[in-house]
Amino acid sequence: MPITTQKPHTCVLGFKAQIGYNNFMYSSVKYSDYTIYFWRIEMESPHVFHLNSLEPQAITKGGTRAFVDKTLFPILNGMALYRLILKENGVREPHWHPNANELSYCVKGTALVTIFGNGSKRNTFTISEGDMFYVPSGFLHHIENTGKGEFELILAFSHENPEDFGLSGFAGCMTDPVLGNTWGLKSNVFSKIKRSPKDIIIGKKKSAGKIPEHAHFTNDYKFSVEETFPHLANEGGSAIVARKDVWPVLDNISMYSLRITDKGMREPHWHPETAELGYVLKGRARMTVQSPGGSVDTYTLKKGDMYFIPRAYPHHIENLEKKEMRFLIFFDQPIPGDIGFSASVRAYSNEVLGATFNTEASNFKMLPEYDEDLLIVSRVNKTE
Ligand SMILES: [Fe+2]
Ligand SMILES: [Fe+2]
Repeated sequence: MPITTQKPHTCVLGFKAQIGYNNFMYSSVKYSDYTIYFWRIEMESPHVFHLNSLEPQAITKGGTRAFVDKTLFPILNGMALYRLILKENGVREPHWHPNANELSYCVKGTALVTIFGNGSKRNTFTISEGDMFYVPSGFLHHIENTGKGEFELILAFSHENPEDFGLSGFAGCMTDPVLGNTWGLKSNVFSKIKRSPKDIIIGKKKSAGKIPEHAHFTNDYKFSVEETFPHLANEGGSAIVARKDVWPVLDNISMYSLRITDKGMREPHWHPETAELGYVLKGRARMTVQSPGGSVDTYTLKKGDMYFIPRAYPHHIENLEKKEMRFLIFFDQPIPGDIGFSASVRAYSNEVLGATFNTEASNFKMLPEYDEDLLIVSRVNKTE
């Protein structure tokens, strides 16, 4: 029997393991005296990456860091996403990113952040669930867990392959005399401090330490996004925004905290000047995105998934559950714009729409006219 006529989907035995965004499928077909084995790779959507399936690249006694850049998620362009988890007393060492701004959202826990920037300006502040902070490219910064439990942070970057330098690694490149000269000390005081050019990345404090009183004050680099008034709220959901018009330090990055209720839907739309990198905090949702040339990709997202929509590619979001879904949506512009179906289609006459869809102009009389896009609409129909 010619092997080439056998199709993998006729397998009688198989298993499936998910690694990153691919499904690797092994299957076999048994015949009376032999078995044919097949290996195949089933590509899931190129727009989706399951962060929960990724083994963190950094695992230390202080915590973990899982990063998804273009190497793992090839469709990324101009953006990337990390998840940082710090155990009790865990410390993300002081470091900086030479090629990317960083915008972070605290999912749980409490932490202390210090940013040291141009002009020797220091910014120290506490963050807790629902708070965000922003770090410009090149600015030194650290994060230390100050709570009793785990601390979790979702971080977006304004580059598809963010780079970083750590304090430990850079000091590891310097000799004892060079370090001694820096502070006017004898070189032998540094001989006790073991160093290497390789960063520690995440360390662990021997004791909790103190939180300075001024760290509880407001700070330009911190934004309590979930405490701000929604940009939009209706029975279908809400969007709370962290963007330059309400948080002036932001540059080339922003975030929307999106909630869609069981009665809502994010209308079909696109963003003329920005790509969109989303992360699912809660719920289950369906997205459809179209690519140039007409190819269509529809996929389901669940908690811990991330997705990427290239600039101006049309897409929409449907909630598939009977409860609220929550997304963090990052953009590569300080204020993302968008164009939705609800207002834009009505910019054209019934005759133009008739010609566009090869039908009678009168078929479009029923479309209401809105001055502005509705963004989040009511789900008046059953989800298919
Ligand atoms: Fe960072
Ligand atoms: Fe969008």
